[in-house]
Amino acid sequence: MRVVVKSGRLHGTLGRAALVLALLVAASSLVLAEDLARAEDRRCPESSDISLPDGFCATIFADKLGHVRQLAVTPDGVVYANTWSGAYYPDAPRPKGGFLVALKDTKGTGKADVIERFGPSSTAGVKGGTGIWLHKNWLYAESDDRIVRFELKGDNVRPSSKLETIVSGMPLTGDHPMHPFAIDDEGNLFLSSASATNTCEVKNRMPHSPGQEPCTELDTRGGVWRYDANKTGQVFSSKERYATGIRNAEGYDFDTAGRLYATQHGRDQLHENWPELYSQQQGFELPAEQVMILKIGANYGWPFCYYDPEQKKLVLAPEYGGDGGKKVGQCSEYELPVAVFPAHWAPNDLKIYKGSQFPKAYRGGAFIAFHGSWNRAPGPQAGYNVVFQPLADGKPSGDYVVFADGFAGPNKEPGGAARRPSGLAIGPDGALYIGDDKSGRIWRVTYTGDPNAVIQAAPEPMVEAAASSGGTVPPEGAQGAVADLPVPPGATREEVALGMRIFHGKDVAATCAGCHGANGIGTPVGPDLTNGTWLWGDGSIQAITKAIRHGVPQPNQHPGAMPPYGGVPLPDDKLAAVATYVWAIGHAKQ
Ligand code: HEC
Repeated sequence: MRVVVKSGRLHGTLGRAALVLALLVAASSLVLAEDLARAEDRRCPESSDISLPDGFCATIFADKLGHVRQLAVTPDGVVYANTWSGAYYPDAPRPKGGFLVALKDTKGTGKADVIERFGPSSTAGVKGGTGIWLHKNWLYAESDDRIVRFELKGDNVRPSSKLETIVSGMPLTGDHPMHPFAIDDEGNLFLSSASATNTCEVKNRMPHSPGQEPCTELDTRGGVWRYDANKTGQVFSSKERYATGIRNAEGYDFDTAGRLYATQHGRDQLHENWPELYSQQQGFELPAEQVMILKIGANYGWPFCYYDPEQKKLVLAPEYGGDGGKKVGQCSEYELPVAVFPAHWAPNDLKIYKGSQFPKAYRGGAFIAFHGSWNRAPGPQAGYNVVFQPLADGKPSGDYVVFADGFAGPNKEPGGAARRPSGLAIGPDGALYIGDDKSGRIWRVTYTGDPNAVIQAAPEPMVEAAASSGGTVPPEGAQGAVADLPVPPGATREEVALGMRIFHGKDVAATCAGCHGANGIGTPVGPDLTNGTWLWGDGSIQAITKAIRHGVPQPNQHPGAMPPYGGVPLPDDKLAAVATYVWAIGHAKQ
């Protein structure tokens, strides 16, 4: 925009004042014009599908890579991703080639033009893994029950060295069979062995099941273990435990002072299993997700305690004598988190920003990738974003903001979400990479704005603004879909419709859709109920009713149990209705 000061004759005081004013307008307009030109330069080369604060730009670096779990970037800008087809993705086609992916943008377009798969592959029966880390000239990765490494040498992005096994024998059973890890400069490898259960109950995830005391699971799970990153052939055992009482540490990073941060996924089912102690709302809001600083020998309280963000303390879990949040008991002895986040958001990765591309206010703070919740039904599911938490000296130095949003698209639940953030890495130029384990996308986020800009939240994603007026559970179109569903013999269409409402948490607070996905299409924690194949019976209304009534304490293909009635008391008529709905979606395709 340009302001032209009209030529003409200006007389007297008034004239001079007008001239000064006109010049001032012109000067400020020039500044505005410069701003606009800069904004123009900053515009993203493509309209990204995620929303970011002003001045940030995301390009789709790569897509459809499989279940991208965590990422690492070399000083030369080669991005490595670990992908996984383990228990969380029972139906997923196995990628051809290895589970590890090397990616490089050789042309500076913001997109990888070299993409090569390598490492252990599904043809060898391997299922890949989550964790990945670079240490010196070695690439370390989790692969099934072990951490392996490759030497990186030469120009080829795909390592040609032979694979070495650093540590093996980690447990692969139960709720959390993944083993993310981190390596410090001295070569200490810190490794998660996350919990097999929700809270070490006698019967995992079953209503009113008491906690086991002692919780022997803690010998090999629910903590962080330490190994030597430079020693091959180590075998996982209880002896190398470094810190305990951590349910599921997924994201790791060091700050410049050497502190090791880890994220923890908090426990589930306070309301479902203990409805007399916790309201449904408390079930949504408790406990906080945590970021902790790991210390040798420390205990962080799982499974005996959970963190209540309102009271700002660890309180006794109902399985261990807790009374709904007042009793503290032994919990006062355990380590507190350094930062907390809303319940059930599922923090899958954390990276401290040590780059210099983003505004100064971001330096030393943590980006955290939240995979998103499954168990806040009938409330909206939440998370599915990347958060920025400012940090200084190992403590929050401000409130967190949602930095990147819009990954899920209109259906914010595990089955229907388009994408779920799971991995983060920061490149040598300070760009932030975000990986998604739903559709296998990696974004590259860059910044070209004012280096002194303040920390800002991402604007609300367009798609969510549109969806929030229509409601997202069940997804749009599903209401009409009841008319297209078959009705089981002896049942009515009204029962199927009621069953659909129950399934999606709209009637009693059932969380079927949380685990089985909207319309039953399946998620990592519950099978697809629409594909016509049945794990528990012949698909008859009787077999379906039985599965719902008794739950599935020991699933065939999934990590966590299904509690009876999915965790909420269902009177017989509602049980019958939800069973007719499951039958209907299970027989719709035949
Ligand atoms: C906590 C997660 C979770 C919740 C909540 C849940 N389920 Fe399940 N469901 C599972 C798992 C896990 C299985 C067993 C899968 C396996 O064996 O691998 C299962 C199995 C089933 C089966 C048997 C499927 C088959 O292939 O034979 C049915 C039917 C079913 N669920 C219906 C429901 C209904 C209806 C609800 C809500 C009232 C519900 N589930 C709530 C996780 C869940």
